[in-house]
Amino acid sequence: MQVSQAILTRRSHKLFRGTALPDVDLRHLLELAIWAPNHKFTEPWRFTVVPKRSLDKLWDAVQAAADSDKARSKLPKLKEIIEGAGAAIAVRQVRSPDNAERDREDYAACAIACQHIQLGAWERGWASYWTTSPGFVGGSLEAFWQTAPGERLVGVIFLGEAALEMPAVRHNPSDSLAVWL
Ligand SMILES: Cc1cc2nc3c(=O)[nH]c(=O)nc-3n(C[C@H](O)[C@H](O)[C@H](O)COP(=O)(O)O)c2cc1C
Repeated sequence: MQVSQAILTRRSHKLFRGTALPDVDLRHLLELAIWAPNHKFTEPWRFTVVPKRSLDKLWDAVQAAADSDKARSKLPKLKEIIEGAGAAIAVRQVRSPDNAERDREDYAACAIACQHIQLGAWERGWASYWTTSPGFVGGSLEAFWQTAPGERLVGVIFLGEAALEMPAVRHNPSDSLAVWL
């Protein structure tokens, strides 16, 4: 698959068929992630990999973290996502509290790492979905994701075999967003 094709055809998927991603594919995705551009070679990313065999632990943690009626009302939806997923990868950023510019650039680098994971997965036939939903990444889940002091969770990427085709949402044409000098 060409890079352009991967970019243009990748869509976010939340519903998966339950197929496990092999560890070899997960390792490949981590390898792609660490080739994201990063200023001054800070390599600010850290990863927490949850293969299919460990997703039940995520479900336990997500249930335990749902500490309000509103949060508990969302559990069936979160369960459906976790049960269907073939793996999840959290991308964590090592922060630079004394250097705001470095911190901002490192966040950008980690976001690119997330997209490398998504595109690399798509190339191998795996759909994905990047989430920052509190139900998956809220404060009390930091221990599950092993977010260390001085880190922030940039996103959790669920991966799996797509259960549905996802139509592309309308995008503003690039020409309407660009100023040419
Ligand atoms: C930083 C970030 C956080 C996101 N968090 C969520 C989320 O919490 N829930 C969700 O449904 N989608 C989330 N998404 C996915 C976007 O909703 C999705 O990329 C967008 O709708 C465009 O659809 P596409 O990925 O199919 O092109 C997130 C994307 C990014 C970049």
